[in-house]
Amino acid sequence: MSLEDELEAQRRRAYEQRSPQERKARADAVTAVADAKVADRALNVGDRMPVFRLPAISGETVDAGRLLDRGPLVISFYRGGWCPYCNIELRALQGRLPEIEALGASLVAISPELPDRAAVTADSDALTFPVLFDQGNAVARQFRLTHEIAPEIVRYQLGNGNDVAAFNGMDTAEVPLPAMYVIDSAGIVRYAFVDPDYTHRAEPDVLIGVLRDLAADGANANPAPAARATSSEQITAEVLAAVAGAGDARTGEILAAVIRHAHDLAREVRLTPTELLAAADFLKRCGDISDAARHEYVLLADVLGLTMVVDTVAAGSPDGALETSVLGPFYRAGAPWEPNGANISRGADDGDPAHIHGRVLDTSGAPVDGAVLDVWGTNRNGLYENVDPSQPDYNLRGRFRSGADGDYDLWTAKPVSYPIPSDGPVGELLAVTGRHNMRPAHFHVIASADGYRTIVTELFTDDDPYLHSDAVFGVKPSLVVHYDRIDTPAALKAAGRTEPYWDLEYDFILTPGQATSVGFSTGRQQPA
Ligand code: BEZ
Ligand code: FE
Repeated sequence: MSLEDELEAQRRRAYEQRSPQERKARADAVTAVADAKVADRALNVGDRMPVFRLPAISGETVDAGRLLDRGPLVISFYRGGWCPYCNIELRALQGRLPEIEALGASLVAISPELPDRAAVTADSDALTFPVLFDQGNAVARQFRLTHEIAPEIVRYQLGNGNDVAAFNGMDTAEVPLPAMYVIDSAGIVRYAFVDPDYTHRAEPDVLIGVLRDLAADGANANPAPAARATSSEQITAEVLAAVAGAGDARTGEILAAVIRHAHDLAREVRLTPTELLAAADFLKRCGDISDAARHEYVLLADVLGLTMVVDTVAAGSPDGALETSVLGPFYRAGAPWEPNGANISRGADDGDPAHIHGRVLDTSGAPVDGAVLDVWGTNRNGLYENVDPSQPDYNLRGRFRSGADGDYDLWTAKPVSYPIPSDGPVGELLAVTGRHNMRPAHFHVIASADGYRTIVTELFTDDDPYLHSDAVFGVKPSLVVHYDRIDTPAALKAAGRTEPYWDLEYDFILTPGQATSVGFSTGRQQPA
């Protein structure tokens, strides 16, 4: 009986057991894999095999390069012991193992199943060749064989007691397309069988024929066909596989995404080697110009809008609640604690006095007692104290706590628009894109309280000429505020003041959740 006869018998059995809905779902899933062109993209004849080392269930590590030193290598990628077609194929291969070995070749099977499950398969199918554990499909990915089983099929599998994701120790039911490869001793694929239909498998007779041809080639000392040139996609697959074993899953996830997007970017714009070096030099110069009071990489993320995207996604502020804006590179932790009503303008000529007051409330309108408002701003010259040695330490910075009814109250200098640093690489970037380096007048606040999400934000003055072209994209409509000018004798008298000032009333609406700390703070520039 040929392997195909056995597979066909299994297909018939499976068909008879299934409902019309399941038959259709199975057929649709195969069509979807075919449409996704997984098989078309897979490693093929003429490609160079990616080198790999994998643990066998016996405990030893199998090095594919070492096996090739001995002769051709036959590799069977199978989905798992839960797949009847895989078991049929594995048993058929075991039956032909003596012939394979007699032709000087080695045979290995690779699956993503956890070793204890793979061991059960090897045992029940009486396999004597190495069965290798491909954690997270790292090697299958290098062969470009991976795909996820369709959710509907996953549900049917679960109904049969097969939790494929759990069998593989993964979050998703990702499997390799079942595939058969013959690699010659030079590492070149000489035969590839990859079919989008998992019920189709390579016929062992064909495999043995390929090995015979290879042996004859060797005897006749025919040169191997020229290897296909390596594609950039192959390199991407190799790099992704290299980082797949990251100990920390989140690090692995981020690194893999960086690699995918960076490689795609290079392909999309056909980045030249000179341009890549220019980018590296740009980043080097960002590092060179950074110091205790200046962080050019933060500035870079800001002017590219990346900071705003990251902050907005992380905060997830609901409608009506306080929204985030950029922290900026000038935040200094450890500002002095001040009582409500205090003035944080400690300089001789900081600017127009401004009174900022209101309440800290939660999303239901209830006052938040003991919320912390960590605030900072520039003086009338648009300079923060940590980059301006002429200002007192911590000038225009302070931390305030809301009272029992949520009230807060502080005096500062009215914010002005100011330029972000443009004397470094980020300035060059702005210049080449014809952008100015101005920020609209704003007042920085980090609002936090136990049981609420910490929000890093800014309040923007509504009549500023740069309100609609902030160099760092920080403005959101809910953060635009209006300062009233208080200058009539009656109003001044009522406020107990003698000098005109600006008045801003603003309520901070906090969202219940987890408070977080702000992990970035610059220092104070040391005088030269
Ligand atoms: C700031 O407002 O302090 C700032 C924010 C982003 C970049 C530069 C400055
Ligand atoms: Fe600022």
